[in-house]
Amino acid sequence: MFEEALRTEAPPDAGATGVAPVALFQPENLLVRDRTPRPAWVEIDLEKLRRNFKLIFQLLPPHVRLLSVVKDDAYGHGALHVSKAALAAGASFLAVSTVAEAIVLRERGITARILMLGDRHESEFSCCLAHDLTCCVSEPEGIRKLASLAARFERPIPVHLKVNTGMNRYGAPWSQAAQIAVQIQATPSLRLEGILSHFAQSDGKDKSHATLQLERFESVISQLARTGTPAPIRHMANSGAFLEIPAAQFEMVRLGILPLGVYPGPDCPRLAGLEAVMSVKARITAIQHLQPGEGAGYGIRFKAARPTRIGVLPIGYGDGLPYARNRGFVLVQGHRAPIVGATAMDAITIDVTDIPEAQLWDEAIIMGGQGANSISAEDLADIHGSIPYQILTTWRARLPHVYLHEQIGPCGSPNA
Ligand SMILES: Cc1ncc(COP(=O)(O)O)c(C=O)c1O
Repeated sequence: MFEEALRTEAPPDAGATGVAPVALFQPENLLVRDRTPRPAWVEIDLEKLRRNFKLIFQLLPPHVRLLSVVKDDAYGHGALHVSKAALAAGASFLAVSTVAEAIVLRERGITARILMLGDRHESEFSCCLAHDLTCCVSEPEGIRKLASLAARFERPIPVHLKVNTGMNRYGAPWSQAAQIAVQIQATPSLRLEGILSHFAQSDGKDKSHATLQLERFESVISQLARTGTPAPIRHMANSGAFLEIPAAQFEMVRLGILPLGVYPGPDCPRLAGLEAVMSVKARITAIQHLQPGEGAGYGIRFKAARPTRIGVLPIGYGDGLPYARNRGFVLVQGHRAPIVGATAMDAITIDVTDIPEAQLWDEAIIMGGQGANSISAEDLADIHGSIPYQILTTWRARLPHVYLHEQIGPCGSPNA
């Protein structure tokens, strides 16, 4: 797809070809990073993303809404692209973690509801209100401060009450949550639109803690129902719970990683048809021939035990690849090529001795599929002692991001 990135630089000339150029891209609207050739890049397949959302909607009962979690640039996939795909598929809400993440979406024309995950400091409230962002609230003092700022609006401002049922980070203690919910309902400038909790462990084999959290959440809901308070939207399920704890779906699920085609953990049931949306690729930019005893890279962390063909890939820890020594592999010509030596800022070295067909400028897969083989975010997480979430978000901004199968909105460019 490197060629495709290059093509965006110079659209075909209608005069020469007799065919009007198809305005798939407006290069001037792309980030410099994304319109500058570089033989290492992140590829995001928007068709797969759209298919994943469709698949998830087919599995959701009709009364259950979808909130798409697009924090941290949609786990590195591009918050605007993922938000547009989610909303087009029927998502009701988006969610981010920082006010800046939400404002970027607003500035790019996203008018959908945006829920701010986590707790907000009072200094953030005005900004949230000005940009029509919906806050999660949990403690009475914050609620009072938000209420006084909200009083200048004509209609009550919707808020979602976060309940701590056992994650023990954010949220009102579950034993006090119903009482706080009633206080919110009694505040004229606020409207209790939603009530939520977050699982600490929804994707492991052991569901005992998740079950305890669900029971506590349900007990808050029943207490609230007894007060006669109108039922807010209840939401608790993340991707793991969506897959395995149907009782947690309530009126809305909050999904981040699953629509991206990646599972939260190794034990989750697999969804037929779900595909990873992101790939990371680089081309072999140099080939070296080592004699036995010769080494490669910083610190000579690799020494050839036999006549060895080394390929150099122009991607390193400066691009987010976790630092390692003689660990992991990439795919070249559909085969596994071991990564040898130490990861540098801008390069890694791979052993292609056993892949004689490997040539200069061949495409190597750091994450993704090639032929019958693939390297998933889960595989990379295993190799580097991490989790798939961190692997998805590790790829840094200096890698060009190539979006496949863009659909053009009315304003012309999807990157506008
Ligand atoms: C409060 C909350 N809900 C939902 C999610 C989405 O989780 P997942 O990506 O596992 O679907 C997150 C992500 O961390 C979150 O913080």
